[in-house]
Amino acid sequence: MADEYLLDTPVVRDFIDDVRDAIAAADSPAAACDAIRPRFAALLADPAWLPERFQQPNPDSGMGGGIGQWLLFRAEDRSLTLFALIVPSGSATPIHDHLAWGLVGLYRGTQDEEIYAEGGGVLELVEHRSLRPGDFYALIPPHDDIHRVRTTSAETSVSLHLLTNDTGCVWRHAYDAESGETRPFRSGYVNVACDEDDSPQHSH
Ligand SMILES: [Fe+2]
Repeated sequence: MADEYLLDTPVVRDFIDDVRDAIAAADSPAAACDAIRPRFAALLADPAWLPERFQQPNPDSGMGGGIGQWLLFRAEDRSLTLFALIVPSGSATPIHDHLAWGLVGLYRGTQDEEIYAEGGGVLELVEHRSLRPGDFYALIPPHDDIHRVRTTSAETSVSLHLLTNDTGCVWRHAYDAESGETRPFRSGYVNVACDEDDSPQHSH
């Protein structure tokens, strides 16, 4: 295996180089996220670097609603990924977690986001926020780790995710809003297959 650049451009390579330098120099996830912020903001503000082919919905989505998750970069050791999440107008993700820290921001369209906290098997809605292009936040579990996003714009929304795991291929959790129950959840990527022999890990 090697580093995978599904979108192999100087913009992506420079970004990942800077991110790796920031992570290596930081003494905590929060410090790393702070150091990466300016570069992440620049990526969200640049209208030219992400080709249309990585902004297409996926009719065969494992998340439903035509939602597409396009892998752009994955580290050889699967400790870092950059991907675009495409959510068609009116579609919403399941409530889900990520199990890794990183940065998440909106590139195109608008989204409503509901953030939940889990305690004693109960899911509590703790925050509701509306996102516009350029908005982003650091996700550091358990803070902000469980959420659901819905596209509120007439156009498809595109969000960028820089996370410190192989988010599309790891087994994580989807939550039932009413009961708080979890089920094993693997979102997959539109453009890269996950290893089939991986089985769901412990789901509770
Ligand atoms: Fe998410």
